[in-house]
Amino acid sequence: MDDMTHFLDIYGHLPRAGPGSTASTRRAWALMTDLPASPRVLDIGCGPGVQTVDLLQLTAGQVLALDFLPLMVERTRALAAQAGVADRLTVLQQDMHEMDFAPASFDVVWSEGAIYNLGFENGLNKVKPFVRSGGHVVVSEAVWLQPAPPALVVAHWQEYPEIDTIAHKLAVIGRLGYTLQGHFVLPESDWTTDYYDPMERLLPLKAKQWAGGPDEDKGLAVIDEARREIAMYRQNSAWYGYAFFVMKRRG
Ligand SMILES: C[S@@+](CC[C@H](N)C(=O)[O-])C[C@H]1O[C@@H](n2cnc3c(N)ncnc32)[C@H](O)[C@@H]1O
Repeated sequence: MDDMTHFLDIYGHLPRAGPGSTASTRRAWALMTDLPASPRVLDIGCGPGVQTVDLLQLTAGQVLALDFLPLMVERTRALAAQAGVADRLTVLQQDMHEMDFAPASFDVVWSEGAIYNLGFENGLNKVKPFVRSGGHVVVSEAVWLQPAPPALVVAHWQEYPEIDTIAHKLAVIGRLGYTLQGHFVLPESDWTTDYYDPMERLLPLKAKQWAGGPDEDKGLAVIDEARREIAMYRQNSAWYGYAFFVMKRRG
């Protein structure tokens, strides 16, 4: 097994693939205005599809969910089928860098914990033509909750240098031609209930499963990294988090 296989064997089997909750999805949805009765929604980086199903249950419209991992595509399809909403869902296995939808194809572009793969500014720029004028772009994104975080926290986030204060994110949003409809910080329970808590429960089971195998050391390295990530969050959740940004395309 390579490192990615070990990684996916953990991250791919959690209820969610990042921080979030149905309550937060619904709260962000409620900040949109002037939606058509059956909106066309694009869900970028859908992961296991929890928010995809939430979106399908919040609207009578169509959702196109996109992820580049076959595992996530399959999980999203299965979850929607289980919820009885698959008839309004299309799932696309595609790299988000290669998205090339016709202009104004969607009323809503949604992305929970995934726009960072394009970069916040680059991502908001890229999706803008896909949404009609007056349509919405809604993303959750990593933010500093206080200025001047400690060096070890900054080092933890060095792989995502676009993490920033909410004020700086709002400045980017305004500069790119969006009007902010609202924003809020996700509660800590959004990180734990369906993400870090089940991850923490899974780690000893994986350690046992991989013990004595040919790639045990690689598996243990992935487990150690996950433990470090969870501990970092538990000790430093006052410094960083995720925020939802609900935007409307101007012009
Ligand atoms: C942090 S997870 C969030 C998933 C889901 N929205 C959630 O909140 O549970 C990010 C997702 O983006 C997907 N992803 C990462 N890079 C991608 C890319 N370049 N193109 C398409 N999907 C990508 C991953 O496979 C993963 O499912």
